[in-house]
Amino acid sequence: MIHNTVLDLIGNTPIVRLRNLAVDNGSEILVKLEATNPGRSIKDRSALYMVEQAEREGRLLPAGTIIESTSGNLGKALALIGAVRGYRVILVVDPKVPASVLQFVKALGAEIEMVTAPDSSGGFQGPRIERVKSMCGENQDFFWPDQYNNPNNPIAHAISTAAEIKRGAGKIDALVSTVSTGGHISGISRALKDACPSLTTVAVDAFGSSTFGHAFSTYRMRGLGLAWKPENLDYSVIDCVHLVTDIEGIATSRLLARHEGIFVGESAGAAVFGALHYAHSHPGQRIVVVAADDGVNYLSESFDESWLRAHELAAVLDLPEYRDFKSLVAAALKPTCEPAEIGDILSVR
Ligand SMILES: Cc1ncc(COP(=O)(O)O)c(C=O)c1O
Repeated sequence: MIHNTVLDLIGNTPIVRLRNLAVDNGSEILVKLEATNPGRSIKDRSALYMVEQAEREGRLLPAGTIIESTSGNLGKALALIGAVRGYRVILVVDPKVPASVLQFVKALGAEIEMVTAPDSSGGFQGPRIERVKSMCGENQDFFWPDQYNNPNNPIAHAISTAAEIKRGAGKIDALVSTVSTGGHISGISRALKDACPSLTTVAVDAFGSSTFGHAFSTYRMRGLGLAWKPENLDYSVIDCVHLVTDIEGIATSRLLARHEGIFVGESAGAAVFGALHYAHSHPGQRIVVVAADDGVNYLSESFDESWLRAHELAAVLDLPEYRDFKSLVAAALKPTCEPAEIGDILSVR
């Protein structure tokens, strides 16, 4: 089959069953591998839909400029779209963005705007957004997709990702997804619950994120978590929230590579850890996990021994509970943080 551009390859990602990182109680964990998108992450879907809607509405003109704050994957997707459609792309990033991501977007012709000073809580997202707003103020013709607030971000997932899960996995009992803008969990969960109201949706967030109102503290995992509550996160389609620690997420992503050949990022590791915990208490259930990006993004970080040593993670990863997949599956029974019902979280915030 001949495609007109690589953008035609976005979506239709595969679903793979876990055989080793699994609980032996009849439950089944199916992983939707978003790394097979051409920009190597789930963000290709929302980026393309937000850009196409802006083109339709005349907010993005031919040869125009796209600017966005990104921790990496949306930037990769926009760089790809810019290269294919002839847009200038400016990406506002911070020092936590992996070097490989910066190399990828530069190779595709995007420009980098680096924010180096965090805000008082140690986060970079706030300062990044401020930089985007100031640049848009000086350049009124710039198109800012504004992934945290743009309703086309979750709509993209309701239209494409959810439909693929329905088609590919059939009737499922639970969805486990990570959260940053809230785009994919909100869009997928809303569409799946419309068809199947008994579905349980587990939001996996980073321990340290304040998306669900907890106190913010720094964490190492990238892709998930925020220092504030994003507009695109629809709390009404989430049933419970599991805060996963750096070590739980990173250990899982490393063991997925070694024992399943599934080479995915840190947030995907966190999501699978959340799914393993859920599986322990839900025998016989079919659980779909959305694995948002590619492990290649983290080759110089969480897959690199010297980086792990420098960030004091190597010794913890060597603890018996994280060293092999059987121990990790057992450790998921008693995670660092027990998941909480969304109602309980919202009532105390
Ligand atoms: C690796 C990774 N995981 C998870 C997410 C969360 O996705 P969403 O923004 O749809 O909540 C992102 C978003 O950038 C990501 O890049």
